[in-house]
Amino acid sequence: MKPELTVVESVAASARDRLLAAGRQALAASGSFSVALSGGSTPKALYRLLQPGDLPWAQVQLFFGDERAVPIDDPRSNYHMTQEAMLDRIAEARAHFLDDPAAYERLLVATLGPRCEFDLMLLGLGVGGHTASLFPGSPALAERDRKVVQAPGVEPAPIRYTVTPPVIWAARRVLVLVSGADKADLVRDAWQRPADYPIGLTWQCEGEVEWLLDPAAAARVGDRP
Ligand code: 6PG
Repeated sequence: MKPELTVVESVAASARDRLLAAGRQALAASGSFSVALSGGSTPKALYRLLQPGDLPWAQVQLFFGDERAVPIDDPRSNYHMTQEAMLDRIAEARAHFLDDPAAYERLLVATLGPRCEFDLMLLGLGVGGHTASLFPGSPALAERDRKVVQAPGVEPAPIRYTVTPPVIWAARRVLVLVSGADKADLVRDAWQRPADYPIGLTWQCEGEVEWLLDPAAAARVGDRP
């Protein structure tokens, strides 16, 4: 199904509202809330808005949908970015670093069940057309059994770890966060030709999918194909 597309003044602030609402709902229903975090500058702005009193963070399971193959304290790692943006400020919040795809898959299956169903998955659209660390043409796009794999990326980290399409499809809710004028052409192309971009996987999700764009990123989405 075609995702919903919403244009908002601040992607980070709107994503924060949606994350907290999804969290309260999941915690009330099951006592836990699982989130797949994404890297990138837009999610970083969201993480900076999250506060210690927002949720009972000890009950929130924070994982990464993708990671660069670098040490945990490397500035290139999504973990390191998240630590600086939120984990250092929110004492109760813990995130699981991804440095071994097979072990991470076992952890996801043990925590979320065999299909690795996240309550909420955050995704983005990178300048190279990638989503999580699924780049256009990546062999990981064909993976249907494994939940987390190593995959080729580009600099600054040519080796990546990423969740695979079945994990994206199984998520209960997906938020695609994109901001900035430098993404306007890419957003238009991916929205009009989803089969050509990994973000097009969100057309086949079982759960609710919303693309949250700021006016600059959304500027060309209505261009004539
Ligand atoms: C990564 C990210 C990636 C991200 C996009 C968007 O580690 O490369 O997880 O998939 O979502 O690059 O990043 P921006 O918000 O900075 O455009």
